Amino acid sequence: MSGTPPSALPRPRLLRLKDGRDYALRPLHAGDTAAVVAFFHSLSPETIRSRYGYLIHDMTPDRAHRLADCDPARELPLGIFERDAGGGERLRAMGRLVHGPDGRSAECAFVVHDDWRRLGMASRLLLHLRAAGRRRGLERLFAQVRRDNRAMLGVFRHHGARLHFRPDADYVEVDIPLLKPKILFDKPLPAPSFSVMATSGKKPFSVVTLIIDLALTAIAFGIFYWLVNSHVPSNDPAMVKLWGGLAAGCMAGVFWLAWQMLKVVFQFQRESRK
Ligand SMILES: CC(C)(COP(=O)(O)OP(=O)(O)OC[C@H]1O[C@@H](n2cnc3c(N)ncnc32)[C@H](O)[C@@H]1OP(=O)(O)O)[C@@H](O)C(=O)NCCC(=O)NCCS
Repeated sequence: MSGTPPSALPRPRLLRLKDGRDYALRPLHAGDTAAVVAFFHSLSPETIRSRYGYLIHDMTPDRAHRLADCDPARELPLGIFERDAGGGERLRAMGRLVHGPDGRSAECAFVVHDDWRRLGMASRLLLHLRAAGRRRGLERLFAQVRRDNRAMLGVFRHHGARLHFRPDADYVEVDIPLLKPKILFDKPLPAPSFSVMATSGKKPFSVVTLIIDLALTAIAFGIFYWLVNSHVPSNDPAMVKLWGGLAAGCMAGVFWLAWQMLKVVFQFQRESRK
């Protein structure tokens, strides 16, 4: 990663995690090869299997070097390090983005040391990888997680990822859209569309529309009356008329409100398409 422009990589930063201690989060580089080997050798077989899908018996320096020193245009490895009093660093968690062949998405994966779980390390790595993905113009991150990996699915769920369970598959497809929030917050809705919903003063009053609405409500009243009057528990025709009329009147009122709301939403949608 020696030739990487600094702006393409997240800045190193200090994190305070749930144990109240400070850790360093930064991209991995060639100098971290030994740290990756040591990290790997300290992981339980179960953790290695969960992360890589099979048991890797030997993490050679060459393999570790490839994990740490990646092509930054295709891959972003982030690490969380514990610092000791002498200024030394020990790798405790890794998260990685690997760009997909479509150039618009990237796969993400995480591994946290067995003794440093539930401190928020995976969550922080995910947040920073998500931000890096956005800066790289990616549309989404994705992952494939085993159905029984409650921890990883928990982290993704916690961060609002979409989980697609398929009945016939051992893996859950995880999808994290990146561009949506940007569109929502960066590109406000056009003002005219807003005013249709927000300001009643601009809506022109039309007698014809009022007559049509009243006629529709009268028809609705007739239908409701016809439906409810046979259910009024009385043999007195006056009582049947009274309670049938009152019930149909209430229902026609609801119909009026629903009709008005439908018209406003329809008008808003029509305006926002202009
Ligand atoms: C999955 C893994 C990366 C999670 O790391 P972590 O740092 O412990 O996760 P976090 O502390 O950020 O957890 C965030 C949230 O996820 C959920 N979560 C995490 N671990 C969980 C578990 N074991 N069971 C249920 N929910 C869990 C919780 O909601 C948690 O929030 P909380 O602690 O406030 O309740 C870690 O367990 C790991 O390395 N597993 C082995 C490797 C692996 O499976 N990698 C994924 C390959 S695709």
